[in-house]
Parts: sequence; C-alpha cells; structure tokens
Amino acid sequence: MAAGFPEDFLWGVATAAYQIEGADLEEGKGPSIWSDFSHKPGRIDFGESGDVACDHYHRFTEDIDLMTELGLNSYRFSISWPRVLPKGSGTTNQKGIDFYDKLVDKLLEREIQPIVTLYHWDLPLDLQARFGGWECRDISNYFADYSSLMFYRLGDRVKYWITLNEPYCSSHVSYLWGEHAPGKRDLKMSLSVAHNLLLSHGEAVRRFREDVKDGLIGLTNVSTFVEPVTDSKEDLRATKIYDQFVNGWFFETPLTGEYPSELFALFENAGLTPNIESEDMEIISVPFDFWGVNYYTRNLVRREESSILGTEVVQGELPKSEMGWEIYPEGLEAFLFKAYKQYGKKPIYITENGIACKDKLLNGSVDDHRRIEYLRQHFSAALNAIKGGVDLKGYFVWTLMDNFEWARGFSKRFGLVYVDYNNDLRRIPKKSFEYFRDFIRTM
Ligand code: FCB
Repeated sequence: MAAGFPEDFLWGVATAAYQIEGADLEEGKGPSIWSDFSHKPGRIDFGESGDVACDHYHRFTEDIDLMTELGLNSYRFSISWPRVLPKGSGTTNQKGIDFYDKLVDKLLEREIQPIVTLYHWDLPLDLQARFGGWECRDISNYFADYSSLMFYRLGDRVKYWITLNEPYCSSHVSYLWGEHAPGKRDLKMSLSVAHNLLLSHGEAVRRFREDVKDGLIGLTNVSTFVEPVTDSKEDLRATKIYDQFVNGWFFETPLTGEYPSELFALFENAGLTPNIESEDMEIISVPFDFWGVNYYTRNLVRREESSILGTEVVQGELPKSEMGWEIYPEGLEAFLFKAYKQYGKKPIYITENGIACKDKLLNGSVDDHRRIEYLRQHFSAALNAIKGGVDLKGYFVWTLMDNFEWARGFSKRFGLVYVDYNNDLRRIPKKSFEYFRDFIRTM
C-alpha cells in the first residue's frame, strides 16, 4: 500500500451511472430526469447527452480490466434507479438488475470492493412527472423502497453503501441555480427538495438497519473549504453563514437532527423554510456509519448586503482547473480536520477528488502532468490529516475515465483514462494512470 497510508486503506476510483453507462433507454431502462434534461435545447454544452456516454454498460469488463491494472482494492459506482425500476416503483427490470449483479461479481472476482451509491442524480423521469420527484415528501418512501430492493439484491455481496451523492447539488444546483436537471430556479422549492432528500437519506438508513446485517452505510457531500476574503467582522460572519449553506445544512442536520440555527433563522424570517413534520428530524438523524467527502476546491466569501444570504463568493487568485475551480490542496487537509472535529468524529472516505485538464492525445499518449501534480499534492494533504488523527479510511479519485460531465458535456476531461470520442470510445490510459498505479503500489 501507498507509503504512510494504513494497510487496510481503500484506494479506488469513482464514477456515476449516467456519466458513463450509456445504453440510456436500452434493455428495459426507463428515462431519468437527465435523459430528458440533456435533450432540452441549451441545457448542455454543445447539445451533448449521456445517451451513449462511455458505453460502460456494454464494456464494463474492459473497464474492470483497467481497474485491475491500476491495482485498486475498491470501486465506487452508482446504480441507475430507472435501470432497475423503469418507472421508479412497481415492476423491476430484470436485465438492469442483472447488469449490476454481473458488475459486482466481476469486481469481487478481482478482489475489488464495490462501494455503491444509490442516488447520483438520475431520478426516474416518471416520478418527476407523476408528483414532482424530490419536490414532494412522498419521494422518501419511494427512495426507501428502491433502496430496500437493492439491499435485498446486492446486500449479500456489497458491504459499503452511500445513500445520496451531494444532496447540495440535487437541491441547489438543480432547483436554485437551475444548472442541473430539472433546471428550476426557486429557493423555497430548493430548500424543500433538500429537506426531502435528507428525509430520504434517513429512511434508507432505517431500511438498511432492518435489511442488512453486515455492512456500512454513509452519506456523500460536496465539501467545500470556505474562507473569508478579509478578516473583517462582516466577512467572517458571511463566511459562517455561507459555510452553513454549502456544508452545514447537509453535514450537521443528519448528525444532530437540527438545521444550522443562524441560517435556519434567516430563512425562517424570509418565509422560506420547508414544511417539517413531527418525526422528520428524528428520521433525518438516524445514525449512520461514515461520511463521504467530495473535495475539489475552496470558496472565498465576503459580505454582500443585497443577496439573500448576505454573502458573495468571489474569484480567488490561485491557479484554476479547466472547470475554473481553484486548486487548493491545503483546503482538503483543513476540511478533513474540520469535518472530523465538527461533524461527529465519524470515519471519512474521500469519495471524490480530481481535476479537469486540457488533455491532448499526442502520438498515442496523454501527458497530463498537471493532474499528476494535483493528485500528488492532495494525497499528501490526506496523509497529513491521517497523521493528525483524522479517521480517513479511503480515497476515490474522480474519475476512472473521461465522461459526461453533466451540463459541461464531454468538454471537460477528469479521467485517468482518456476516452477517444472520435474513435469508437477507445480507452487510452494517461500518464496519471501510471502515476496512480505506482503510487498505490509503493510501500
Ligand atoms: C461532482 C459530482 C461528479 C462529477 C464531479 C466533477 O460534484 O459528484 O459526478 O461531476 O463533481
């Protein structure tokens, strides 16, 4: 195992169903809100979609060969809810379940632990059409039923489960900024969606405890390190509020059963708080086993009177990735210390970390030294956190191969493997692939 990291540390890559699988309406799969959204004019750069993506649905054995070559001991992927339940509930699609069955078996054959995310943004379109999907609190029962189905079908072999990937994105990026499916812009609705997501997380954890005897379940959050632009009292206060918005709302609430108080009061005064029923907070805070931390960057914050939060995120001056995100490994270390201390001393897995680069295929190879440097610095930040006492148990690089980067389409490349979209989706390991392989190996 990589020098300095614990023997039983999980080293893996992470992916998400809609971003890699393709075969979007094949073999009985129902459409998701992303199948619909990505075909709406103007929503995705260059009008692209995940219809075919990396065609992982048909090429998963080849992709597992790549993981074996990397020497991974774990792999984080998500299940496409509409692939196993085309309408979100009711009749199952056996072919879809077979796909995940085969995937899990093949991984285990290679001694790669499957880490399953139940929801990575591809809600069955039918649930959206029938009652507004996450907008309606009934969704938590549908999500719990779907989760139970997967626990029942895969729970004998899968030992690590994640309920939701980044509820911040499924609420605010989708319902406030309107950049992700279903593309709405309404803060009150977005807060209610966030509440229903947290409720669904809690219901799924409850089911897990009933259905699965042997395994762990956690929640993965966007984990943005937040810093004030200046040390002024105003900027410090704005930073605290913004931290509650982007982090605390999704880390503190499921831990304590209470929304972060200052921000909640602010929303309450503005008449924006969700409808909370008597048992909701108890369900939301059912104990779970670990945190998934998805870390990419920091946000710099200052006071801005005119915005509803009284905050504004400003552009920092550090070098940026192709996504325009500042590269800040110190933020990973600081966030891990903060999360461990502030969010219940739970075991932590870095469930995503990586960088989009301007990768070019030249004479059959991709020299992505920028990505290597990024990973080197972030691995070292993670190691510092472990040495400082954080119970960090795994690290999943985002991502195995270039894929459909949501609203940015295929224009942003995050992979350790280059996907040649013009040449039958050929997979070409980049230099960072070799770096990661060698890094995992060194003792
Ligand atoms: C995260 C998402 C993941 C990927 C990376 C770049 O927010 O969870 O699917 O798009 O960003």
